[in-house]
This record gives sequence, C-alpha cells and structure tokens, in this order.
Amino acid sequence: MTRIALFGATGFIGAACAAALADAGHEVLPRPARRLWADNETLTQAPQRAYRPHLAGLAAELDGVGAVVNAAGVAISAARMSPGLVGGNAAWPRLLADACQQAGVSRFVHVSTAAVQGRTDRLDESLRYAPVTPYARSKTLGEQLLRDTTAGGRVEVTLYRPPSVHGPGRRMTTAFAAFCQRWPLVTCGDGDQPVPVALIGNVGATVAAILAADSVPLVVSHPYEGHTVRTLYETFAPGRPLRPLPTRAVRRLLRAAEPTGQWLPPLSAVCRRAELLLFGQGQQRGWLDARGFRLPLGQSAWDEVAAATRGRPHYR
Ligand SMILES: NC(=O)c1ccc[n+]([C@@H]2O[C@H](COP(=O)([O-])OP(=O)(O)OC[C@H]3O[C@@H](n4cnc5c(N)ncnc54)[C@H](OP(=O)(O)O)[C@@H]3O)[C@@H](O)[C@H]2O)c1
Repeated sequence: MTRIALFGATGFIGAACAAALADAGHEVLPRPARRLWADNETLTQAPQRAYRPHLAGLAAELDGVGAVVNAAGVAISAARMSPGLVGGNAAWPRLLADACQQAGVSRFVHVSTAAVQGRTDRLDESLRYAPVTPYARSKTLGEQLLRDTTAGGRVEVTLYRPPSVHGPGRRMTTAFAAFCQRWPLVTCGDGDQPVPVALIGNVGATVAAILAADSVPLVVSHPYEGHTVRTLYETFAPGRPLRPLPTRAVRRLLRAAEPTGQWLPPLSAVCRRAELLLFGQGQQRGWLDARGFRLPLGQSAWDEVAAATRGRPHYR
C-alpha cells in the first residue's frame, strides 16, 4: 500500500482514479490543485517565476507521501489560449513536479492527453507533438516542462495520455449520443478506421496499473479500446446506417476551416472531433500492451454507458 496524494479528485477523471487506487489497496489523499495564471513565454524561460510562492507550502503538503497523481487541469477542448489555461495545464503540473522533488516523492503520474499528438496518423509514446487547439498546446507545454524536470531529477515522472474519455452522465458522452441519434452518421472510407476513445473506468484502472509497475517509461498511452468509427456509432445508435462521404471533398472543407479555427478555438475543436470520426486515428502498441495489461471494461460496459445516455438531455 502506498500513500498517494491525488490532485483533481473532485473531477471526472480524478474521481475514477480515486476509486481505482483505493480498490488497489492504496491510501488515497485527495488534495486541491492551486489555481495559477501564467503566460507561455515566462513559463518557458523561467518556469519558477510563475509559481515560486506556492512551492514550499505544496511541498510541505506532500510530506510522507509515496506517490502523486495529477488529474487536475483545465479540461476544456474549445478553450482560448489564456493565462488560466496555461496556468492550469502547464504551470500547475510543473509546480507539482517541483514540489515532489523538494518533498522527496519518488513517483509522479500526470494525466496528459492524446491531443498533444493532434493529427498525427498513429498515436505513439514519443515526444513528437502536433497539437491543433490552444487546449492541446497548453497540455503540450505541460508535458515539455515536466520532461525538463526529469533530467537529473529524483522523481520518476509518467505522462499518461488518454484520448477522449466517455462515462455515464458526462456531457461529452450525452452530447455524442444525442448527435448519433439525430444526425446522419457519416464517415469517410468504410467505417473500419480505428478511433481512440476511452471509458472512464478503464482510465482509473490504467493509472492504478502504472503505479503498480516498478519502472515506467516517461510517456504511457492509454491502450486502444478496440473501437472503429462503425462500432462507436453502433454502440450509441444501434441499427442506424453509416453514410460514406467523399474523402477528398471533406478534407478540402476541413482545410478551408483551418485559418478561421486559428482564431476561433471552438471551431478548431469541433473540426478536430469531426476529423477523428471521419478519418479515425491509429495507435501503436504501447508499453502497457507489451506488458500484457488488459483493460478491465469491454464492450458490455460501453453498451451500458450508451444505454444510460440514450434519450437523456445533453447537459451536466
Ligand atoms: N475528460 C477527458 O475526456 C480528458 C481526456 C484526456 C485528458 N484529460 C485531462 O485530464 C485532466 C482531468 O480532466 P477531467 O475531465 O477530469 O476534468 P474536470 O472534471 O474538469 O476536473 C478537473 C479538476 O481539476 C481541478 N481544476 C479545475 N480548474 C483548475 C485549474 N484552473 N487549475 C488546476 N486545477 C484545476 C479541479 O479539482 P480541484 O478543485 O479538486 O483542485 C477539477 O475537479 C485534465 O488535465 C484534462 O486535460 C481529460
């Protein structure tokens, strides 16, 4: 059993981590994240200037803790670039990593996101970045600042990258279910393109599996859950037909929206989600697959989540 300080335990992913870590026999200590404001430039050149006043207090809070999990951050995919976004997704995890160093905490698992690799054809566990939205850029900066702390540091940092996470009552899930029932189900190609999505219970279990291992690489991807565009649509709208769209025309349309998306983040976030459903995104086998890790929840759990959302209004 390890004493684990969990930041963001009040959130969607944090609550799932708390449950999975407690099930694995750990003592879970929920802790509130600091709210920070920072700009890219200061953070890149002199990160500690953005958070120095918080460091000693936070390190003192980690006294006697064996590991830290950070599930805190600003999880708004359509957010504009702002000091609050950079503060929450980049300065905050870096502050926490520095506090771990100072307090002698040996493990730090940070919940990042697959979105840091954006449009790359196949997600992998490399440090190759291609963020599309300001949200993804702020998460990328968070990873880069954490990577810098690992050089010569005593704390083992893991950047865990889940894709879009679905779960009962989650707004994104109910909105997707409503979309699947109301609108034509379109895709490019035959619909058998893989789609990276995750179920909330599997995310908690993956964090627990990372903490159960003795030595972990810097980057760990959430394992592929086996969904294709077709199976995801069938899960949320069984029996509805899939309608093919012409790939080249769709790509032209999405490219035409890109310049506007540069200054209108909600548009780039919607286009990115559409791209994922239209073209899918592959994923390389990762470290957890190689270790023989199996996600605990499969298609029947997805069916339960979909059944629970069917017919519900999409708010949270
Ligand atoms: N949901 C997804 O589909 C998804 C997918 C991939 C990655 N992620 C990442 O997972 C993390 C958690 O996402 P979530 O969906 O669980 O979000 P969430 O439900 O909004 O919870 C995030 C938690 O972070 C803390 N928080 C809120 N504002 C903050 C700020 N400005 N600075 C620092 N902490 C703040 C809060 O915890 P306290 O009040 O307890 O501090 C909050 O409960 C995020 O970093 C997100 O980027 C999410």
